[in-house]
Amino acid sequence: MADNVVILAGGQGKRMKTSKPKVLLEVLGTPMLQWVIDACEEAGLSEICIVKGYEAEQIDSYIDGKYETVLQSERLGTGHAVMQAKAFLEKNIGSDTLILCGDAPFIDKATIENALKLHKSQGSAVTVVTSKIDDPKGYGRIVRNENGISGIVEHKDCTPEQLLINEINSGCYWFDTQALLSVLFELKPNNAQGEYYLTDCVELLLKKGRKATAYCSENPDVSLGANDRAGLLKLNDIARMNVINSHLDNGVEMTCLDGVIIGKYVKIGGGTHIKSGSQLFGRTTVGENCVIGPNTLLTDTTVGSDVSLNNVMATKSVVEDKASIGPWTQLRPDSYIKKGVKIGDFVEIKNSTIGERTAVAHLTYVGDSDVGANVNFGCGCVTVNFDAEHKYRTVIGDNAFIGCNTNLVAPVRVGNNAYTAAGSTIINDVPDGALAIERGTAVIKEDYGYRKLKARTEKFRKLSQDEK
Ligand code: UD1
Ligand code: CA
Repeated sequence: MADNVVILAGGQGKRMKTSKPKVLLEVLGTPMLQWVIDACEEAGLSEICIVKGYEAEQIDSYIDGKYETVLQSERLGTGHAVMQAKAFLEKNIGSDTLILCGDAPFIDKATIENALKLHKSQGSAVTVVTSKIDDPKGYGRIVRNENGISGIVEHKDCTPEQLLINEINSGCYWFDTQALLSVLFELKPNNAQGEYYLTDCVELLLKKGRKATAYCSENPDVSLGANDRAGLLKLNDIARMNVINSHLDNGVEMTCLDGVIIGKYVKIGGGTHIKSGSQLFGRTTVGENCVIGPNTLLTDTTVGSDVSLNNVMATKSVVEDKASIGPWTQLRPDSYIKKGVKIGDFVEIKNSTIGERTAVAHLTYVGDSDVGANVNFGCGCVTVNFDAEHKYRTVIGDNAFIGCNTNLVAPVRVGNNAYTAAGSTIINDVPDGALAIERGTAVIKEDYGYRKLKARTEKFRKLSQDEK
């Protein structure tokens, strides 16, 4: 039978002062709960039950049916939270169950696996994952004896001697499922906080003659959680440097880390330089030998190799090899920028394909468009894609030349090798190889400026005479 997981995620996190469940607060842009789920999945554990409580609908919409959930309608402690998963535990009676806290994001595959190995080899009813930390304040202390452990004492229930113990309970446990069920409903809330402590299961199991052990993790961060905003910032700092260090090991260049934040799923090739102020989130991947930044924000974007992105914001887009983009360019969702494209300042691209080696150098909007290869956009061009009711596409053929200040009123097609004259508003298709000019004829009024000048001069002369 497979090993199952219960993740405790019912808590509010009052000191966070938010209407979100605490476990949905983010570390490097990913909810803490997701970090915990990822560790389970990496360890091959996908039978997961999440105990929700505070703002449970938000957990539901985040989990989106991917895992089982149970509701804890009042927050009466970690033991009470596990009681809500009774039916889930009973399905797995012949095997072991991993219990995790959804607000301790740094649990990892190796810790989960090594703790299970110890658990099985010792024939324990419970194996508590622990770590040693310099400042154990607020955590449950591990009381060891010659046979294993004799109990876990919460900070608020500690004697002065117990407060000195620096081995703490991470909140992660492997339980023999049947053993857990045999004591879970015997828990009593007789402690400083009046809660049903899951940790009391250790003593109850020992009383029944069962064995309890502790596995001290090699990961010093395994227990770390956040109870307030400062604590959450600390978790972000730790995660940020862990991620950055792993990219440095892979040959990514960073010469100044100011403002650099890289999410946990981001992939970056060797030789790429990430410059200050750049933030890469979601499923973003970047190839080799790129220069990203300064001040570039990439979300769920795929970037090839030898690309330069300077002051670019890109979302859900693709940028192929050797493209050069920026400064001050936005790629909105579904932009597909092909090889060797050059995009310059104050250009916005949305839901469009830009063909190979095309140049969009300045002050231009390209939306809902299919642009061919080797096209040149002059300064200040606009694809007019919206008539206040519907959006339409613009199609531009290969080698076309779009003159400065052209408006292309969609739906419209500019043919291969076609030109539009500067200042034209194009509402009809331009055939291949043609030039389209749409401008009013200039009306020249000779000496108009001189007549104005004369009138002004006379007015000022009269005014200054009146003052005297
Ligand atoms: C718990 C442990 C403590 C350990 C620490 C590690 C107990 C009694 N204490 O303390 O030994 O050092 O974790 O972080 O277990 N939760 C619910 N419902 C509840 C209460 C909590 O779902 O009624 C969830 C929370 O959302 C959280 C997790 O359980 O994800 C831990 O709860 P928390 O109140 O933070 O426990 P600690 O006091 O930190
Ligand atoms: Ca906690």
